[in-house]
Amino acid sequence: MKKIGILTSGGDCPGLNAAIRGVAKTAMLEYGMEVIGISSGFRGLIDKEYITLDEKALSGILTMGGTILGTSREKPFKKDKSLFRDNDKPQIILRNYNELNLDCLVCIGGNGTLKTANLLSEVGLNVVGIPKTIDNDVWGTDISFGFDSAVSICTDAIDRLHTTGNSHKRIMVIEVMGHNAGWIALYSGIAGGGDIILLPEIPYDIKKISKNIKDRYAKGKTYSIVVVAEGIDHPENKSAGRYITSLIEELTGIETRETILGYIQRGGTPTPTDRVLATSFGSYAAKMIADGNYGRMVTMRDNHITSIALSETAGQIKTITNDNSLVEQVRRLGVCFGD
Ligand code: F6P
Repeated sequence: MKKIGILTSGGDCPGLNAAIRGVAKTAMLEYGMEVIGISSGFRGLIDKEYITLDEKALSGILTMGGTILGTSREKPFKKDKSLFRDNDKPQIILRNYNELNLDCLVCIGGNGTLKTANLLSEVGLNVVGIPKTIDNDVWGTDISFGFDSAVSICTDAIDRLHTTGNSHKRIMVIEVMGHNAGWIALYSGIAGGGDIILLPEIPYDIKKISKNIKDRYAKGKTYSIVVVAEGIDHPENKSAGRYITSLIEELTGIETRETILGYIQRGGTPTPTDRVLATSFGSYAAKMIADGNYGRMVTMRDNHITSIALSETAGQIKTITNDNSLVEQVRRLGVCFGD
């Protein structure tokens, strides 16, 4: 009988519990495995903190946001400069993995987590990765769970900004998450009918943005929606949203307000799409373990669940490229990307 450990690491996102349930139920019911849940990401593996995942522990978690296992941004391979800390975390993890008699470790996380997962697999652990992130920037998979929920939350927020923006004839700037990749801004911007969408991948010219807004005004469109990814170029002492808001107000002379959505984007219950995706990713991961298909990450490619080597995805990031077809399509209907 195989024994496996599951951990969730990095920023949380809707769908983590659905994925835990997907792995654990399949592992137990279909393959007769024993399953434990490691607490607080890789930290739990260092401190040997875990819970037993039986059917009772998994009951009712499908729809819950967050993660029942807890998470952390612990990076065991990052050198700890402190004299008082044990520096050899990877060896501690390897020892604990062996002492717990694990046959495989399932790492559910984003880019950082998958990078660590790959390094652990090089150290000798059997590892299977599952991509999660609201940012949708894990390389090698068309989609990660968490993204659909975040886009849905942002779209709802933008919908609400339309009515208040229209009533006051204001420019409404909304900052959404995405440091290096602007997927949330792009999708929620399109779904919410954003007039201007600013992405980290596309350098913007503030004069072009203010001209676009003034042109809209001249056509009788007395309010505008500007969707900004948090990672666009901006001074460090100000948030991207606030920075763009002050520049637009200064250049257009039109009253402008900012909304910074923040962690609301990561909280709460997953959308049905994310529940389905996380469940099937989890179930597929359990099958990979049963087949001994280790050192790999579950992926979605052209609507098919498959896997790629962790070494292929580690250290990479999926950003919006110049030839992105969505950007191309919406440019044609007048959406301004500030360039
Ligand atoms: O999960 C990714 C992400 O949501 C980024 O878009 C965001 O900037 C970051 O996490 C912030 O998370 P934390 O404050 O937990 O590090």
